[in-house]
Amino acid sequence: MKFPSLKRPSLKRLSTSLLVVAAGLTSGQQAVAADEVNIYSNRQPFLIQPILDTFTRKTGIETNVVFAKSGVAERLKTEGANSPADLVLTVDIGRLQELVEADVIQSVNSDILNNNIPQQFRSKDNLWFGLTLRVRNVYASKERTDINGIAYEDLSNPEWKGRICTRSGKHQYNIALIASMIAHHGEAETEKWLKGVKANLAQKPQGNDRAQVKAIKEGICDLAIGNSYYYGVMLTDENQSEWARSANILFPNQSNRGAHVNVSGVALTKAAPNKANAIKLMEFLSEELAQRMYSEQNFEYPVKPGVKASGLVSSWGEFKADTLSLDEIAKHREQAVKLVDKVDFDG
Ligand SMILES: [Fe+2]
Repeated sequence: MKFPSLKRPSLKRLSTSLLVVAAGLTSGQQAVAADEVNIYSNRQPFLIQPILDTFTRKTGIETNVVFAKSGVAERLKTEGANSPADLVLTVDIGRLQELVEADVIQSVNSDILNNNIPQQFRSKDNLWFGLTLRVRNVYASKERTDINGIAYEDLSNPEWKGRICTRSGKHQYNIALIASMIAHHGEAETEKWLKGVKANLAQKPQGNDRAQVKAIKEGICDLAIGNSYYYGVMLTDENQSEWARSANILFPNQSNRGAHVNVSGVALTKAAPNKANAIKLMEFLSEELAQRMYSEQNFEYPVKPGVKASGLVSSWGEFKADTLSLDEIAKHREQAVKLVDKVDFDG
């Protein structure tokens, strides 16, 4: 089973608490609102615990987290109305859309959330809300390139033949990027582009985003596609900083529509036994203090306009973001998956 057992030592307190809530529910009683919020999280504990602790200090509301690498939508579906979970913390429009399609989340109408989070980064139906932003960047070898800007469209240009590395085209980060290309250029143009990018690959798509920058360091490729926060993660990691230092981070399409941006986000479950407290936490996460803490933990950008990114992240410079909404990108994800298959991108 992909979903974690509740036996991890750090989750002991939580597992007890979740079991208690679940037991209460199966005995046919409405869970009595203790002052708590239960969270299913795809985000690693170290990223969110400091913020949750701050929330508890300020409000007295306890938080219980189950960390899961995947399988949250299915689990919520299975648990149905008896789910002890109130909130889901996750990454990528792909995962957020999964929650929508599984019909396991409910809309939240909050002036605080609506004011803090630009429309492009939350669902039109208020079903999910972006909390941090990540750019899909191009990393360029300092040694073997001399460009200081690029467009995603350029990646199919023959000058890059045999010089580009990327993870699988099917990974949700790339699917969202390809979906954004479909939204801007249509399916036929995007298919041509994707074929061109494939023809330029230095090797079969493999590994994660950081492995592509490592491949630049190793001389395997000159350009790599990767999310922005990994630059920070690598630069502050003793063993990986030399990978990052071998490459410049480029923000694509600065001379036209801007760089493709995705989110980490939050959604309220349909079951939500602690709905009022859960909404308080959602609102807290969108306010300046949590925005700063949450984005800094993983070298991401705050979603709330005017909140500053960390010093390291800011040092990569200002950039222009594509204003295409994630709702719009979500609409083209399925087409993107089909195109990746059609051009046999990973083959
Ligand atoms: Fe990631």
